[in-house]
Amino acid sequence: MPLLDGKVAIVTGGGNGLGRCHALALAAAGARVVVNDLGGSVLGTGAGDAADAVAEEIRERGGQAVANRASVADWDGAGSIVEQAVRTFGGLDIVVNNAGINRPSSVITMTEQDFDLEIGVHLKGTAAVSHHAARLWAERRPEAGRAIVNTTSPVGMHPMPDGGPYGAAKAGIAALTQVHAQELASLGVRVNAIAPAARTRMVMASPSVDQLMPRSAGFDRHAPEHVSPLVVYLASALCGFTGRVFGVEGPDVALYTPWSVERVVTAASGWSAEALATALADAPPQSAIRAFYPGGCIATVSPPNRTLKTLAATAKLG
Ligand SMILES: NC(=O)c1ccc[n+]([C@@H]2O[C@H](COP(=O)([O-])OP(=O)(O)OC[C@H]3O[C@@H](n4cnc5c(N)ncnc54)[C@H](O)[C@@H]3O)[C@@H](O)[C@H]2O)c1
Repeated sequence: MPLLDGKVAIVTGGGNGLGRCHALALAAAGARVVVNDLGGSVLGTGAGDAADAVAEEIRERGGQAVANRASVADWDGAGSIVEQAVRTFGGLDIVVNNAGINRPSSVITMTEQDFDLEIGVHLKGTAAVSHHAARLWAERRPEAGRAIVNTTSPVGMHPMPDGGPYGAAKAGIAALTQVHAQELASLGVRVNAIAPAARTRMVMASPSVDQLMPRSAGFDRHAPEHVSPLVVYLASALCGFTGRVFGVEGPDVALYTPWSVERVVTAASGWSAEALATALADAPPQSAIRAFYPGGCIATVSPPNRTLKTLAATAKLG
């Protein structure tokens, strides 16, 4: 029997890139799929509607799928995706929160519109669809085998310059993943997140990132379809994890450790600023971390050397 036989899944932003691959992979594993995406042309074809096209592709392959064109950033629109799953397929088992956009900007250059858009699509969109799914599951009996798969980013786990609104939204999604895992366990829902790296429309629009993902002969490390088996695994009963983030790039899957405490200093009668300066004097100004960026794991430090050097140079100017 296929792994997800009889399950009903939602994939947001399922009309292009990673979401399209996830929708096709979930359907191939036996799930009936609501393919959500904003109305718009299909990448490369110049015509048609992306969600409709992917739903049609699934049906042509013998699966079951319907299209939904709501924006996940709209609270009621997010609700309509869940309603459509229930109306069309009688229930809901799996939510893949994948919809996304990327407008790189620094704290100096960003606009209010950029910030609202990033937070709206990623953070509010993830929260909204998960909320409506959770309400449905709470109204029904607890049932094993429910899953939410969120989409964070390497930039959400290790934020970098010009990735403020995007990185903050993606870090927020990692936080929601942990919170929702705790809140929904009693309803039988596992909640995990992926931090993918793959060559998609979003990446190709950003030349510096696109350079990190060259096309390779043979197994193409950055082809988006290599990310989807992880999503199918996280959506299935094979997965025993909840509240975790998995990096994924081609053949490599990385399991993240959440933020963890590096050192504790204690003052039984409370701290002064001077006493804190003394207590922390020998603590290194940087934390050693292992980051998972395109190309695999790299050892690095936080904050980066260049940030500390720039601060030191600025202090000398003052
Ligand atoms: N490609 C990568 O390397 C990479 C890296 C890290 C994270 N991600 C994340 O993966 C997810 C998929 O991105 P992708 O690379 O496939 O990009 P993509 O641009 O190919 O696909 C994103 C899809 O989301 C849809 N979308 C945008 N706003 C929406 C909204 N309000 N409601 C519904 N759908 C909406 C778009 O129309 C598009 O079809 C995103 O969340 C992205 O941030 C991608």
